[in-house]
Amino acid sequence: MSIEDNKEMDESLQGTATVIKTGKPSNGKMLFLESYGCAMNFADSEVVASIMTEEGYGTTSDEHEADIILINTCSIRENAEERIRKRLTNFKNRKKRQPGLIVGVLGCMAERLKQAFLEEEQLVDIVAGPDSYRDLPNLVNEVGSGQKAVNVLLSRDETYADISPIRLNGNGVSGYVSITRGCDNMCSFCVVPFTRGRERSRSPETIERECRDLFDSGYREVTLLGQNVDSYRWNMTSKGEIKDETASTTNFSQLMEMVAQISPELRVRFSTSHPKDMTDEVIEVMAKYDNICSYIHLPVQSGNTEMLKRMNRGYSREWYLDRIAAIRRIIPDCAISTDIITGFCDETEEEHNDTLSLIKEVKFDFAFMYKYSERPKTLAERRYEDNVSEEVKSARLTEIIDLQLSQALASHQAQIGKIHKVLVEGFSKRSDDFLSGRNDYNSKTIFPRGKAKKGDYVLVKITECTSATLKGELVEILTSVTN
Ligand code: SAH
Ligand code: SF4
Ligand code: F3S
Repeated sequence: MSIEDNKEMDESLQGTATVIKTGKPSNGKMLFLESYGCAMNFADSEVVASIMTEEGYGTTSDEHEADIILINTCSIRENAEERIRKRLTNFKNRKKRQPGLIVGVLGCMAERLKQAFLEEEQLVDIVAGPDSYRDLPNLVNEVGSGQKAVNVLLSRDETYADISPIRLNGNGVSGYVSITRGCDNMCSFCVVPFTRGRERSRSPETIERECRDLFDSGYREVTLLGQNVDSYRWNMTSKGEIKDETASTTNFSQLMEMVAQISPELRVRFSTSHPKDMTDEVIEVMAKYDNICSYIHLPVQSGNTEMLKRMNRGYSREWYLDRIAAIRRIIPDCAISTDIITGFCDETEEEHNDTLSLIKEVKFDFAFMYKYSERPKTLAERRYEDNVSEEVKSARLTEIIDLQLSQALASHQAQIGKIHKVLVEGFSKRSDDFLSGRNDYNSKTIFPRGKAKKGDYVLVKITECTSATLKGELVEILTSVTN
């Protein structure tokens, strides 16, 4: 397994460009929207599509048809920003051939670089941070009258709670629903608190309504999104004090229960859990409902306690292992995935070995693995030196990837012969003779289509696998969509 291969894995979550499509304009203008970064960015793009459609814009998947191009960006690692910069340079050249074309940068890079985008880089006309999307129509008008437009104000309470996102690029089966915005954690390597601002939770009623609407329009899976879903709280301060005595409070496990009760046919997933905040109560609610998937993404970052302190993660190796033990005790077959960073500041060989030993001990089903990339303004940039050489970072990453993939393969091989419930998401990438979906444990599962179709729950007997995918044969169609 090479680092290049991991890059591909990396891009599958952080940096896949997706183009949102369809819709005729009522104002004669077409919008092309492209997203990079995490699921929260993709969810935000659906909010942006909704705001712009309300203004009369049509949306297109063909950038050559566009009057306005918006690109929703990610700053998590330097290589994410580099890719986006190349793309923007491309658009800048297009502007020379198509005067009047408006190009806007949204999201985390917009927030991080602010006016610099207009002044030094001259790449774009609009710079809009993650909390300013309601202002986009005004910003576009400003550009129409010959100015450049910027809004990078971060908010303490914007959650876009009342906006119904437009699901334009999805599969019509699984949808993202944001439950919190921002992050208060200040992990020392991470740029997100600077690009997304303070953490705030969205009202439980609007979350439940959005999930119900998705179900009513044929969706069969929702993924509740937040940088740290476990810190979701409504009508409570971070210390747990009630804000309004006359209203009820909601924590994450209660919210998840509300969503799970919409229908047993609506699968519930969530991301991301934080080891310092994930309670047994959350795992118990997962165990109580069949439709809450037995899968937890619990980023560890490192297996060494000293390193975790430098990362300001708020837990030790032992604490993390205790959370894993709680999951295994309450949901013995729960799938667990993680994120790992190699070569963070001052990482010693011994600390790296602790990460390897933790991987061996936990046996993650899946992992996203990254080389540390220093980000401006973060605690680590100010406090520590990025002093692990590129060669050592790469060598450690390769070692971690090799170990992880061999374990993931073994865990998939153990599934051969077993029967898994799969929600069908569509045709497989390679052939329309095969369908693709995910099992309860979030493993991609491919099988010959038979009479099954998108949106069906089916039983699949696993016959083959790789470390990333399961393959099998259709045993039974459990519930079929009628449309
Ligand atoms: N909120 C989530 C993660 C968001 S970012 C959490 O706390 O787990 C997704 C992943 O990117 C992180 O888990 C981390 O592994 C990685 N990451 C974040 N900053 C990074 C950096 N500066 N260099 C390399 N990887 C980074
Ligand atoms: Fe970044 Fe840490 Fe917040 Fe995750 S919890 S977004 S890693 S600061
Ligand atoms: Fe990237 Fe911003 Fe998400 S930095 S990972 S798009 S919160």
